[in-house]
Amino acid sequence: MSRILITSALPYINGIKHLGTLAGSMLPADVYARFQRARGRETLYICATDEHGTPTELAAAEAGLDPATFCAQAHDVQHDLGRRFGLSWDHFGRSSSPQNHRLTQKFARELWEAGFIEERVTQQVYSHTDKRFLPDRYVIGTCPHCGYEAARGDQCENCTRVLDPADLLHPRSAVSGSTDIEIRGSKHLFLRQSLFSDKLRSWIESKRGTWPLLVTSIALKWLDEGLQDRGITRDLEWGVPVNAWEWGANPDGQTPDIEGLAGKVFYVWYDAPIEYIGATAEWADARAAEAGTGPAPDATWERWWKGPEAADVTYVQFMGKDNVPFHTVGFPCTLMGVNAREASPWKLVDELKGFNWLDYYGGKFSTSQKRGVFMDHALELLPPDYWRWWIMANAPETSDATFGWEQFQAQVNADLADVLGNFVNRICKFTESRFDGIVPEGGAPGALDENLEADVLAKLREYTGFMEDREYRKSATALRQLWVLGNQYLTEAAPWTAIKTERERAAVAVRYGLNLAALFAKVSEPFIPFACEKISEALGEPFPATWPSLDGQGVLSALEPGRTIRAPEVLFRKVEDAQVAEWRERFGGPEAEGA
Ligand code: 2FM
Ligand code: ZN
Repeated sequence: MSRILITSALPYINGIKHLGTLAGSMLPADVYARFQRARGRETLYICATDEHGTPTELAAAEAGLDPATFCAQAHDVQHDLGRRFGLSWDHFGRSSSPQNHRLTQKFARELWEAGFIEERVTQQVYSHTDKRFLPDRYVIGTCPHCGYEAARGDQCENCTRVLDPADLLHPRSAVSGSTDIEIRGSKHLFLRQSLFSDKLRSWIESKRGTWPLLVTSIALKWLDEGLQDRGITRDLEWGVPVNAWEWGANPDGQTPDIEGLAGKVFYVWYDAPIEYIGATAEWADARAAEAGTGPAPDATWERWWKGPEAADVTYVQFMGKDNVPFHTVGFPCTLMGVNAREASPWKLVDELKGFNWLDYYGGKFSTSQKRGVFMDHALELLPPDYWRWWIMANAPETSDATFGWEQFQAQVNADLADVLGNFVNRICKFTESRFDGIVPEGGAPGALDENLEADVLAKLREYTGFMEDREYRKSATALRQLWVLGNQYLTEAAPWTAIKTERERAAVAVRYGLNLAALFAKVSEPFIPFACEKISEALGEPFPATWPSLDGQGVLSALEPGRTIRAPEVLFRKVEDAQVAEWRERFGGPEAEGA
């Protein structure tokens, strides 16, 4: 049986994430991890905070903290929110970890020694006032094309032309506003991505038809436009230091310019994906520390990533569409280059699930404009299952999707409260009041019960197939249909009527109804784990459960007659109109700016 390695795009350390970020990476990855664990596969779900880069340095400065302290605090906040959302990471690491430093530096050395990295001098803006080099987008000035006065050094927002900071008239620092800036030459390292074009193309071509079209088309578009070599270093303080002093000669016999590279760090987009591996090493070390055995031997985590030991691993990545180029081109280039030097190759991604945007009333989520729902507020308003269900049922798979309170209210009330919650409540309450809370035996099943079993099995197979394929909208639809089968059955079997004349018949219906509830708790867990735990507890079932067998044997017979059950507390309270009105006011509605 295969092992499943899952990574979701690493959230930037800076700021609380909104529902859109959850929708495109962490949440679907969690749903998949829970599903695979339930299926009995050895599963490792890895995520981490993406901590380096200029925005982090600036945010730390704004908070009056050094970047290390700022990141440590922000990491804890994100970790806590993720846990409360039910994100079942096996490890939530940090790209600033010593493990990632080590791997990032080791890979760079190997890439250099293999001739895949070269040195170049680039012209960059240096701000005397800020005492730092400014990335292009932190230089602002007047656009030479349209006269817009707040154009950024990488692009003019007004006329959309791509710019170079040197093009701007009256350039100034976006950090301090200072005009005391100059253009200076600075030595940097470039990964020679262009050397990998053919190899990347045939690899991506081999994924056509398997990966979502969104993903292969973005990747091929990048390749078609011609792969540029990529600068992988920056003039910053917070990051993984370039360790050129440790490097040998490249194939041309050239050694690196140690002095010219002194004080530089690797670019955040170079070290962040390596943290997928780094965080796996962190996971192994953390487990070894818990067991009191000191740092883990490399083999403990390398078996997920490297060589023949990882041959049974299927590696699945989850991300939003903006991240696709970095995962289909950037990171694979790093690994392909490193693999040219290592006897035992690192795994490339096997399955890549990319998502479109989830936006807010057709506009962007925005922290500064207080538009949209962020993870902390979401948890203040409602339990996580409401959000998990709505987001996954509306996953932006084939096109962008949009959040609106009215649609959210209608859907969670209908699916969770009216269909699932109501079903579980009805059958459990009835068992308590008419069968003393004991699963009854009843007589032999009739046609209605046998048909139910056949319908449930067919729907369950369909649902399981969609889940294996990571088709989340389809999965949610199939799951909802499964719940509906339960309600239809209860309405037809009507044990509350049957009990007046035929107690045995009512008992059969109750037994089937309770077994349906137990089945729902098992198979809904990837989407709504908190409610499923409550249902399982109420029915005396283990949690988390193993996925039911699809071979047709006993899909509705987990609960043996005689077992005592109880009704769970209310599973889903309805979202009220007054709440929707209040939340629209607080978080912005369709009329808010930006929609
Ligand atoms: O877009 C983002 O949020 C990035 N922080 C994703 C990084 S994914 C990986 F490469 F680390
Ligand atoms: Zn312009």
